[in-house]
Amino acid sequence: MEMHQHVERIMIGEEKIAARVKELALQLDKLYEGRKPVVVCILKGSFMFFADLVRNMKVETEIDFMAVSSYGGGTVSTREVKIKKDLATDIKGRDVLIVEDIIDSGNTLYSLKRLLNERAPASVNIVTLLDKPERREVPMEPEYTGFVIEDEFVVGYGLDYAEDYRNLPYIGILKREVYEK
Ligand code: IMP
Ligand code: MG
Repeated sequence: MEMHQHVERIMIGEEKIAARVKELALQLDKLYEGRKPVVVCILKGSFMFFADLVRNMKVETEIDFMAVSSYGGGTVSTREVKIKKDLATDIKGRDVLIVEDIIDSGNTLYSLKRLLNERAPASVNIVTLLDKPERREVPMEPEYTGFVIEDEFVVGYGLDYAEDYRNLPYIGILKREVYEK
């Protein structure tokens, strides 16, 4: 079956995402005016949001990538955060912008932010495309949020279900039978 046919409904369409990404880029341009932030893509989920965001930003940036694990193959958080790939950049004294796909329990970013702060950056800000505040287990307030969503498992635009659906161009909800396979 074709990928799009696994989708029950589109929660946030391509045009809505693109418009919001432009707004966020404008806000970030103002925040970092005259500076040169290290913009960090949290792999893999934020790769698409990250690419669209930095493409729309006009301030100078450096980009870097980090991979952390918090979820297994399924839909439930394991609460454990491990660094699978670290930054190549020395962030001491730098302005760091973490780009995340979604904040759920908050555990991933809570530990990640604490860890990066130990490296004495000038600042650490978080921009997340999606936020599910209802699911929060630890205090975690992103500085910038694309969309606040209800407590539903979403895929697409970088987000996966067991590594599938990351290349869907929109944020969608899967049909129940997909999880029951
Ligand atoms: P947290 O540590 O619980 O905040 O989890 C954040 C991470 O869980 C995100 O970076 C995603 O990789 C994953 N995640 C949480 N909710 C969803 C979802 O609805 N769809 C896909 N991945 C999700
Ligand atoms: Mg992720």
